[in-house]
Amino acid sequence: MSSLRQSYYNLFSKVYDRIIELHSHDLQGRLRSALADRTGLKDGDIALDLCTGTGSVPPFLAEKVGGDGLVIGLDFSSGMLRKAAKKIRERELKNIVLIQAEAQHLPFKDGAFSAVTCSHAFYELKGDVREKAIVEIKRVCRAGGRFCMMEHEVPRKKFIKFLFYIRMLVAGNLGSRALLKQEESFFKSHFSVVKREILPGGNTKVISGLIK
Ligand SMILES: C[S@@+](CC[C@H](N)C(=O)[O-])C[C@H]1O[C@@H](n2cnc3c(N)ncnc32)[C@H](O)[C@@H]1O
Repeated sequence: MSSLRQSYYNLFSKVYDRIIELHSHDLQGRLRSALADRTGLKDGDIALDLCTGTGSVPPFLAEKVGGDGLVIGLDFSSGMLRKAAKKIRERELKNIVLIQAEAQHLPFKDGAFSAVTCSHAFYELKGDVREKAIVEIKRVCRAGGRFCMMEHEVPRKKFIKFLFYIRMLVAGNLGSRALLKQEESFFKSHFSVVKREILPGGNTKVISGLIK
């Protein structure tokens, strides 16, 4: 049975790509490619895209790992995964597998991945779900592998900032404001060599860290 949050994302999946298209003016392809560039993935590696949604990130990771590698896109929403499956089928991408599971209970063995990515989703994980997910990320990614997360940067302009927080409210996640304030210390407490970069365009950041 679906939880309320899964139902919310199932519904959201019907309009998600359209909203991203309108919102980002086709910048997203380049941003997701920039996320993949920061993973350090190479031929034959295995990568996990956590909370993959409609599967926009896996094709960029798939390019990095090549035909001998594998990319797993994981999400708990069947609606999102249906959209992702269609996209992957249409592009005939053979090295991507989609799995329905929760970020806080990853069905993989320790050290299975060379890198884990999470795009526009980590700050939507609430409270103890986020804490459990980070424990899982560190468990399934090998030592020296990378966690790379992409999120919107908090807007500077007051009105846009207001809309940003409205979106967080709608996603039921105003609690993430606390994380935003302690972002650096949060990531440094979990990973080593933490880097925070604002991508071209200025609205999006990538935070990456090495698994200790
Ligand atoms: C805003 S979308 C981002 C999708 C995609 N990563 C992207 O960049 O377009 C957030 C995604 O996180 C997924 N999600 C939220 N909580 C989750 C959880 N606890 N376990 C697995 N997936 C989750 C949702 O189903 C949704 O697909």
